[in-house]
Amino acid sequence: MIDRIAQLSALLPQVSDDPRALIAIARQMIAAGDRPRALALAEQVHAMTGGRGEAGVTAAEILSDGVFSWHFIIPRDRARNDAYEQALRRAIRPGSRVLEIGTGTGLLAMMAARAGAHVVTCEADPAIASAARDVVAANGYADRVTVVNKHSTDLDPIRDMGGLADILVSEIVSNDLLSEGVLAAHEDAVARLLAPDAVVIPARGTIRVALARDLRDRSPRLCDASGFDLTAFNRLALPNETIRVGMDQVALCSEPVDLFSFDFATAERRKPERREFDISSFGGRIDGIVQWIALTLDPVGRYENRPEPGAASCWAALLWRFPAPVDTKANDCVTIGGAHERDRVRLWVSD
Ligand SMILES: C[S@@+](CC[C@H](N)C(=O)[O-])C[C@H]1O[C@@H](n2cnc3c(N)ncnc32)[C@H](O)[C@@H]1O
Repeated sequence: MIDRIAQLSALLPQVSDDPRALIAIARQMIAAGDRPRALALAEQVHAMTGGRGEAGVTAAEILSDGVFSWHFIIPRDRARNDAYEQALRRAIRPGSRVLEIGTGTGLLAMMAARAGAHVVTCEADPAIASAARDVVAANGYADRVTVVNKHSTDLDPIRDMGGLADILVSEIVSNDLLSEGVLAAHEDAVARLLAPDAVVIPARGTIRVALARDLRDRSPRLCDASGFDLTAFNRLALPNETIRVGMDQVALCSEPVDLFSFDFATAERRKPERREFDISSFGGRIDGIVQWIALTLDPVGRYENRPEPGAASCWAALLWRFPAPVDTKANDCVTIGGAHERDRVRLWVSD
């Protein structure tokens, strides 16, 4: 493979002004296992073509591979952005050194720089790190924001950061709070990369749950199609369903309960946990348990995506459907269980 990559590299000078040839080499670089070089070529072709023509579209295909579509949604969540920016402004002092985990578009890093900090921000994905560098430069913050293309656990506090950070900011929180690896990343960063008494934003994340009724006309589960019963296929469905917050897809049928709450400012390793508990119903049909997230940015700032009328959020809630709906009267108790394994969450109704 190394020979193949060397052969492909040797061809580059002969085709340096031919976007179609360059993108063909980029595709072969991927097949040969050299994604970083393929990405660099795709960026070159994108710049040459402006994304036009077959070569431009192929470059976009290579650059976007593995980049989640939510990168184009989260920067539009005004409440999220404002909650982070206000917390950053409350924490940043002249000369503050901010470490961000997970650059994405560079938005939070630029907010910290706008508030007066020097920022090092790390991004595990090379295409995203490179695009974020361009965003930062285009906004005039290249002298205050350094984008490092590394996973946070590979950062060296001296070589990559020039010293320990006074403030850690991250938004590596998935719909279920945990599956983007927020616990492991924060535990490592607090232990190795932060000055004593550093501020951590968000300071805490909480998984909240409530009994819920599905208000959608059509369940996402299969029943019959063209006269055939497809229900046996449902065992392949994910155990939770994505609920768009603000679309009135579910009604909450109990008061919310904090299932698990996590201190993001500790180096102490959180162990997996499991609990079962009763929730008192408001009454009526219960289809499952809905889970959402609450972030405590700092002692003042809070963000929650509770799925209720009028809400809006870039994060979805998750509905864990019961095997069959449960009919309840007001104040009936339903026993539910919840567990996390540090980077995944599971909810169920107890028999
Ligand atoms: C949800 S986006 C947040 C983007 C931006 N910070 C914002 O809030 O708008 C999270 C980004 O962090 C990156 N990421 C997640 N965990 C990381 C880690 N431990 N180290 C480096 N990058 C990470 C992902 O690749 C993704 O681009």
